[in-house]
Amino acid sequence: QKRVRTRHFQIAKDTGVRITGLTSYDQLTARIFDEAGIDFLLVGDSAGNNVLGYDTTLPVTVDELIPLTRAVAHAAKRALVVADMPFGSYEVNADEALHTAIRFMKEAGAHAVKLEGGARSAEQIRRIVQAGIPVMAHIGFTPQSEHGLGGHMIQGRGAGAEQLLRDALAVQDAGAFAVVLEMVPAASAAAVTAELSIPTIGVGAGPDVDGQLLVWTDFAGMGDGRVPKFVRQYANVRQVLLDAVTEFRGDVDSGAYPAPEHNYE
Ligand code: KIV
Ligand code: NA
Repeated sequence: QKRVRTRHFQIAKDTGVRITGLTSYDQLTARIFDEAGIDFLLVGDSAGNNVLGYDTTLPVTVDELIPLTRAVAHAAKRALVVADMPFGSYEVNADEALHTAIRFMKEAGAHAVKLEGGARSAEQIRRIVQAGIPVMAHIGFTPQSEHGLGGHMIQGRGAGAEQLLRDALAVQDAGAFAVVLEMVPAASAAAVTAELSIPTIGVGAGPDVDGQLLVWTDFAGMGDGRVPKFVRQYANVRQVLLDAVTEFRGDVDSGAYPAPEHNYE
């Protein structure tokens, strides 16, 4: 199966074919999502909450994400693998951003990187793209700036809609091949999507975008916390595992496991 490339994202936008993405942090899920035909796998800094046990994405480091990215990139045969640049790894200047992007390409085998911010990150995007590394931008609600934004809040409402469009145009102009719109009103996302020539990828941005992205632990019901309003839970993997573990415990307790067929002669 042929690898999804950034040009396929553009073809999808131009022909109205929708793009799908999921986060993945390990080779097991990467292989499943790849087999199902998901177009891109994001090794998100949401690994901070979902894998590393932090309360936010802020403490996540490049060194922590590189082995996860390597596992996903190794496992995915078709999907385009996007490495998320963590907080503190690109904001200072374009040089720092390029150094980080190179690490993800070289040490982890990523196919693209993602970073947060619109106009404020344009210089960084331009520099990375000039080095031959595709960049997925990320605007709207940007979790790494949660404290600056004043919490988990919907962006792009009212006057924010104009700001959202300005940011979208800035990242397109800087050379991003796609832009994630997180937690914005459907109408604002639709307006941005109509205005841009590059594809928009929505995560809580309504239906009128060029692609949909979800955090896998949310969409599969793996977590024990609440999921955002925009998530449809397609499975309850946590419950499946909980039931299995409970059964295993009971079987060991009762002597039902191991049975004769599990024993070596
Ligand atoms: O880290 C992540 O999972 C993300 C997506 C939610 C956009 O950045
Ligand atoms: Na992220």
